[in-house]
Amino acid sequence: MIVGIGVDIVKVSKMEEAVLKGGESFLKRVFNDCEISHLAKGAIYFQRLAARFAAKEAVIKSLGKTASLSLRDIVVINLESGMPVCRLSLPKYRDLEILISLSHIEDYAVATAVAQKKA
Ligand SMILES: CC(C)(COP(=O)(O)OP(=O)(O)OC[C@H]1O[C@@H](n2cnc3c(N)ncnc32)[C@H](O)[C@@H]1OP(=O)(O)O)[C@@H](O)C(=O)NCCC(=O)NCCS
Repeated sequence: MIVGIGVDIVKVSKMEEAVLKGGESFLKRVFNDCEISHLAKGAIYFQRLAARFAAKEAVIKSLGKTASLSLRDIVVINLESGMPVCRLSLPKYRDLEILISLSHIEDYAVATAVAQKKA
């Protein structure tokens, strides 16, 4: 059963600014260690960070008004195929499965999330 959906859009330049200004402490406030180590610092690094930030916001929207978790509790990584998957690190959400989809271009990154009860 679907319990909610969410969408978010993030300007890539804003993400780049935040990282350059806030440095490691900003990264660690928003992203989980495995997310940081998962992303190669290549040409589209900031696009990919922005997409993950958008995904976290989209997940919070999908959980609705009762959501109480931090951005770091939402973990986004990619399977070998490239498909992104999302895991919530808090036990209280263990009955939920989160589906996400990401897209990014030079200027913007978007993400959608669907929260559903596990079968
Ligand atoms: C995977 C694919 C859809 C990505 O689309 P894109 O326009 O290049 O790039 P987007 O910015 O929209 O999407 C990138 C995101 O797609 C997601 N993605 C990658 N592989 C994926 C997969 N197998 N399944 C779902 N999502 C995937 C990732 O989250 C990626 O972002 P990330 O690397 O930062 O995590 C595309 O590269 C692809 O393989 N298309 C298939 C084209 C094709 O076969 N066409 C012919 C038949 S119609």
